[in-house]
Amino acid sequence: MNGHIDILAIESSCDETAAAVIRSGQEVLSNKIYTQIKFHTVYGGVVPELASRKHVEKINYVVKAALEEAGMTLSDVDAIAVTYGPGLVGALLVGVAEAKALAWAARKPLIGVNHIEGHISANYIEHPELKPPYLGLIVSGGHTHLIIVKDWAEFEILGRTVDDAAGEAFDKVARAIGLGYPGGPKIDKLAKEGNPNAISFPRASVNGSEYNFSFSGLKSAVLNYINHADMMHQDFSRADLAASFQKAVVDVLCQHTVNAAKAYGIKEVAMAGGVSANSALRAGMEKACQEHGLNLYVPSPIFCTDNAAMIGVAAYHEYVKGIRSGWDLNANPGLKLGER
Ligand code: KG4
Ligand code: ZN
Repeated sequence: MNGHIDILAIESSCDETAAAVIRSGQEVLSNKIYTQIKFHTVYGGVVPELASRKHVEKINYVVKAALEEAGMTLSDVDAIAVTYGPGLVGALLVGVAEAKALAWAARKPLIGVNHIEGHISANYIEHPELKPPYLGLIVSGGHTHLIIVKDWAEFEILGRTVDDAAGEAFDKVARAIGLGYPGGPKIDKLAKEGNPNAISFPRASVNGSEYNFSFSGLKSAVLNYINHADMMHQDFSRADLAASFQKAVVDVLCQHTVNAAKAYGIKEVAMAGGVSANSALRAGMEKACQEHGLNLYVPSPIFCTDNAAMIGVAAYHEYVKGIRSGWDLNANPGLKLGER
């Protein structure tokens, strides 16, 4: 025993085949990501069956590379962690089956991890000073959650999207203006050349929780704007549209986050998920937090989009709580945050 807890983590919930070795919930000994984006781009989005097939093809290479970069063999790690939901069922199954086989063969404990918990836990890698309780905003292609991280691996959901996720809205708007998949980074780039105040798009309010989000109305407003311009044979600036759409998303995310921080008297705010790589969101949230005396934590972009390092970090906190998965661990595509 060297006093460290080293966890091999596997992530395959969507279109990234990833493996990492994480030391004691914080130190990234390796972080390997095989991205399948180029195979899905031609179809304009992730094709689930193709994703599963690519995971099967690549997963052993990615695991091997992660262990090698960490200078370890399977027998050196203390546990094997894997994302078991939420995500695409066929994609998840590949990672789950891999992790179970490795854990069985090497006689290691197995820890199933919630993908959303992984995202928020990515913050601990570069911000060891961040500790619960804090407010968390998780914005990805599949999820938009405003939560309180009450304790390590304990969550209260304040609000979530009632329709599209933030990243989904980015991807759909990008497709409508011909930018292709994945749209988020492309809108981010194009918006830098546009005027965010050029077009006034709606900031949706939602029935139910005041912290819920809705992005489908905004998406429809953008599509209507494009259709109207097309019908009238009018030219419009795609950069202005991208910037104005992006600002509408950023405004709502910042407003809800600041409102919740004030209502619950929380000073620490952490963002996570693919959309938190967005430069306008990072700048907007930084400004909003500064104005209201809040401390903001955001992972580096590589830890915002899907990766296995974040899964290893989340797994560590489950591990020290004594949480282990059984040999019956299965993919759970609709797994909720806080559910086991
Ligand atoms: O967290 P993630 O990699 O996968 C999910 O768990 O969904 O998030 C992917 C999402 C995609 O919708 C992608 O367009 C979006 O994150 N995204 C961005 C940016 N980078 C990735 N959205 C806006 N701006 C970005 N720079
Ligand atoms: Zn994700």
